[in-house]
Amino acid sequence: MMKENPENAETAKKVHIQTYGCQMNEYDTDKMLEVLRHENYIQTDSRDDADLIILNTCSIREKAENKVYSELGRLRKLKAEKPELKIGVGGCVAQQEGKAILRRAAYVDFVFGTDNLFELPEMLENVSKGRKISQTERHARQKVRNFIPDYTFQKSQNFGVKAHLAITKGCNNHCSFCVVPFTRGVEVSREPEHIIAEAKRLISAGTKEICLLGQNVNSYKANGTDFVELLKSLDKLENLERLRFISPHPKDFHEELADAFVTLPSLCEQMHLPLQSGSNRILRRMRRWYTMETFYEKVALLRDRLPEATLSTDLIVGFPGETEEEFEMTMEAVRNVRFDLIYSFKYSPRPGTRAAEYPDHLTENVKSERLKILLETQEKIVREKNEALVGTSHEVLIEGKHHRKENSATGRTRGNHSVSIKNWEAKAGELLTVRITGANPNSLVAEPLSTSPVSG
Ligand code: SAH
Ligand code: SF4
Ligand code: F3S
Repeated sequence: MMKENPENAETAKKVHIQTYGCQMNEYDTDKMLEVLRHENYIQTDSRDDADLIILNTCSIREKAENKVYSELGRLRKLKAEKPELKIGVGGCVAQQEGKAILRRAAYVDFVFGTDNLFELPEMLENVSKGRKISQTERHARQKVRNFIPDYTFQKSQNFGVKAHLAITKGCNNHCSFCVVPFTRGVEVSREPEHIIAEAKRLISAGTKEICLLGQNVNSYKANGTDFVELLKSLDKLENLERLRFISPHPKDFHEELADAFVTLPSLCEQMHLPLQSGSNRILRRMRRWYTMETFYEKVALLRDRLPEATLSTDLIVGFPGETEEEFEMTMEAVRNVRFDLIYSFKYSPRPGTRAAEYPDHLTENVKSERLKILLETQEKIVREKNEALVGTSHEVLIEGKHHRKENSATGRTRGNHSVSIKNWEAKAGELLTVRITGANPNSLVAEPLSTSPVSG
């Protein structure tokens, strides 16, 4: 994102940040880059010429955490060849492990938690004096509320056509499988004024689409403003073409939010509604606080207001104690709802969570077998749904040239389908009406019908 040079390009140091995990971590990486820019760092894509390497880590599943440790293993060699290289570890693994990372990988210079990224200048100053640092202390509500001081936005930056904007941090839900409340702390909503100000800066730097981020966005509440009111204020901003959000919790999806999809022109016809399991007993054990019946009601509510809305979800297979019949209930939900996109995961026990303590864990084989069955069914549904889109017209926001197909542009529909447009020299940020001419498993092919000038 932040590629242009700072003022003292000759003296600038180079930072390489590797980001794992969710959009919240990507957002934090962008914030780290903003902070570091003020410390005269420029971003580099290459580990080899970096003066500073930061791993922004994820611990949502064991696999994600293992990736971090194997990457650290590789960095050990690099540090041995280049002792002046500084290595930092941030994000969710760092928050949970703290000093233990310094013990396990002595060549790491500093470890910092998810609340501490704006203390990077101070940490780097200490690191340059040869100190080892582990800073994972949580800050007072007020301090983390607005995440990052405003100064970091003062210089003009080239933001992308699409940008993320965090509106909450942390989570109060404590689903029994999930590590996020431990790594991100309690839920804190940012003040609406700060969110609006950040949105305006993004828009003036060229952003056309903003995706609001939070672990449970629809429980947002700050200074008397709730989530729907926040959406309304953002929708009013001039030159913001598209607004999305991720992730809402099904328990907080209600009529007022469903209505907002109809009344707010920028709010895209797409929603991610994480189901996790189709069995009420498992949902209870997961501490999700809704039943299949209420989930179906929410889907019906959305589809009543917006029959064409695309719907995606998250599902976990092989949760402790999940029987064949209970897994079949998840399959039934998948066949009934016909989601446009599913993120599916094998349950992975996480340290500190309730579910990790349950006595009835399933074997890796059972989990893999269930995941395979789920993926096969979903693939068929997506194929059928994508084929049904052939011949329909959509507005596409162009993101740029297609990185594999020559002479093609790529973009997304309001429903968030990825589309490649053949033989079209469109520019990033342009809005185009297209007709879908073909369907691939994960994307659509289209031809342009007309350009609609970007409004405002
Ligand atoms: N806050 C978001 C989810 C964040 S984590 C929400 O509530 O939807 C993204 C997804 O990872 C979750 O929805 C869940 O499906 C999956 N996940 C979380 N913990 C997991 C675990 N221990 N094992 C497997 N999948 C997990
Ligand atoms: Fe994790 Fe549940 Fe919070 Fe999502 S809502 S972050 S799954 S605890
Ligand atoms: Fe991973 Fe932390 Fe996100 S655990 S999924 S990076 S909140």
